[in-house]
Amino acid sequence: VVEVDAAAPGTAISPDLFGVFFEDLNHAADGGLYAELVQNRSFEYSPDHRPEWHALTAWELLERDGAAGSVTVSVEAPLHPANPHHAVLRTTTAGADGRGAALRNEGFDGVAVREGERYDVSLFARLADGTADRLVAQIESRDGSRVYGRAELGPVHGSWERHSAVITCEATDPDARFTVVAGGVGTVHLDLVSLFPQATFHDRPGGLRADLAQVIADLKPKFVRFPGGCLAHGVGLGNMYRWPETIGPLHERRQQRNLWGYHQSMGLGYYEYFQFCEDIGAKPLPVVPAGVCCQNTEPTGQVGIPEEEMPAYVAEVLALVEWANGPADSPWGSLRAAAGHPEPFGLEYLGVGNEDTITDTFRDRFSRIHDALREHHPEIIVVGTVGPSPTGEDWEKGWAFARERSVPVVDEHSYKSPRWFLENTRRFDGMDREGPHLYIGEYAARDNDMGSAVAEAAYMIGMERNGDVVRLASYAPLLAKRGHTQWLPDLVYFDNTNVWPTLNYHVQHMHSVNSGDTALPVTVVGAPRARPVPETDRHGVHVGTGHDTRAEFTDARIGPLGAEAEPAPDFANWAAESGTWEPEGDGLIQQTAYGADDSRLVLAEAAAGPSYAFSVRARKNGG
Ligand code: AHR
Repeated sequence: VVEVDAAAPGTAISPDLFGVFFEDLNHAADGGLYAELVQNRSFEYSPDHRPEWHALTAWELLERDGAAGSVTVSVEAPLHPANPHHAVLRTTTAGADGRGAALRNEGFDGVAVREGERYDVSLFARLADGTADRLVAQIESRDGSRVYGRAELGPVHGSWERHSAVITCEATDPDARFTVVAGGVGTVHLDLVSLFPQATFHDRPGGLRADLAQVIADLKPKFVRFPGGCLAHGVGLGNMYRWPETIGPLHERRQQRNLWGYHQSMGLGYYEYFQFCEDIGAKPLPVVPAGVCCQNTEPTGQVGIPEEEMPAYVAEVLALVEWANGPADSPWGSLRAAAGHPEPFGLEYLGVGNEDTITDTFRDRFSRIHDALREHHPEIIVVGTVGPSPTGEDWEKGWAFARERSVPVVDEHSYKSPRWFLENTRRFDGMDREGPHLYIGEYAARDNDMGSAVAEAAYMIGMERNGDVVRLASYAPLLAKRGHTQWLPDLVYFDNTNVWPTLNYHVQHMHSVNSGDTALPVTVVGAPRARPVPETDRHGVHVGTGHDTRAEFTDARIGPLGAEAEPAPDFANWAAESGTWEPEGDGLIQQTAYGADDSRLVLAEAAAGPSYAFSVRARKNGG
């Protein structure tokens, strides 16, 4: 029997409690939520992003119907300094139809198109020589035998100009291709070659994939945290996510390496994030670096923005508030207005830092930013960080620092076993009601099964019961593309045409759409004795350290200490995932590898106990 004391005044629950965490990890943005269909549209892929990548990755030259030519990449007279590379498509011999050489894009695992849908095509082009001044863009089958729709673009002149058209597609094909055909003999330069469905979420041109955005919107999240995670503070100072570089015209946005071992086109930038929040009625919760990059990732050992650059960085953070909330005629507000949003976005929360180690450099850089925000924008609720784990020295230091500075809210992360969640449902009950409020910014019970979903549900009830101090919470990570999953578990899996919410998603949904406003005292009378949580606790596997993003198993063994370990099955082509290797308690219990198609191979399972040894040998093949 569950007794609820309805006469009690109860405790007010934070109205913003359940939100979502979005990070471009697992290819969640480009090739995912961001609906662009052309991969490497600006020819900015580089071996710095992934060793096997280069400026023409995902593109191929076609010499059809007798046409002959070449494609190279140039940085001369670029479209914009932030976008230095462009393709040089040269036709030396026109084909039988008079057309020249062509460049074909493979999309992100193919270009998924639907019959009857309209697609916006756009590109920047410049004629270098010859008469190839008309271009044709077409959506076609993978083998090129069928053209599903085409559009003429041009005339192309001697300086960079944007050309656009609309293609109506005549077939449904999850694995189509997109091709730009030169107009005849001559040389044309191409950049930012784009193909977008018109049917995006809320019909925003250049917007978000409708089905993926909808599955997030269905959660009715009270807030959206972005752009990460570790992505926010970056691998090294040069890789920090700098918000002003992500709000302007697409070709002026600085693209860069994604810390998770691929590329960020920045097409999904701050403007799009804020707009998405508005479209789904969620509060934006941007996280800016706290003036330090991800600890231990800066090759020079310098993790903090240099002293002399800090005033400019602090000004950059303050400018975010003006960009989001300032009048349309303010210096930064006018950029928001120019992008199409004269009304303020209504920013309330601002995250500063993510899982940072509480060093002197961190304290110094964070304090400067925090002081400036307090002085100039006392209306903004600053969300600080207490590091990754709700235990340990850094966590203690993080809390002490947050208390000392009266940081209103702090972010902590828990990637733990289901058992840990079940054992910790009461950990907020004794929290200091006077200290900083808590944002449980990332948490997950390490699997996508019933046990983990129930454990998360129980933990969330603990959050709600303490909704006066647990102010915000978001499961993480949110999205993972099949075949490109780098972190497990995740809330929603997808490919180019399907979306698969998990059991854990349904737990989030249940809590979020039914979140209460007052927690009343509840007594459970005559409850059955709780069953002990089985000792065979489960762990997802993350092979690699830091930010290695892909690894291939070559060998793995598990067995009792001292005995000959059983070799695991054949590992050819089984990709292990990245992340933090974090054996817990008595050791690793289960070892699972995930195939490139996200299918799952259980290598070994054993009872908990100190008597098991585990070894895995992995070969890095990326990141
Ligand atoms: O959610 C994945 C990662 O986990 C985040 O980037 C980071 O904050 C945490 O370590």
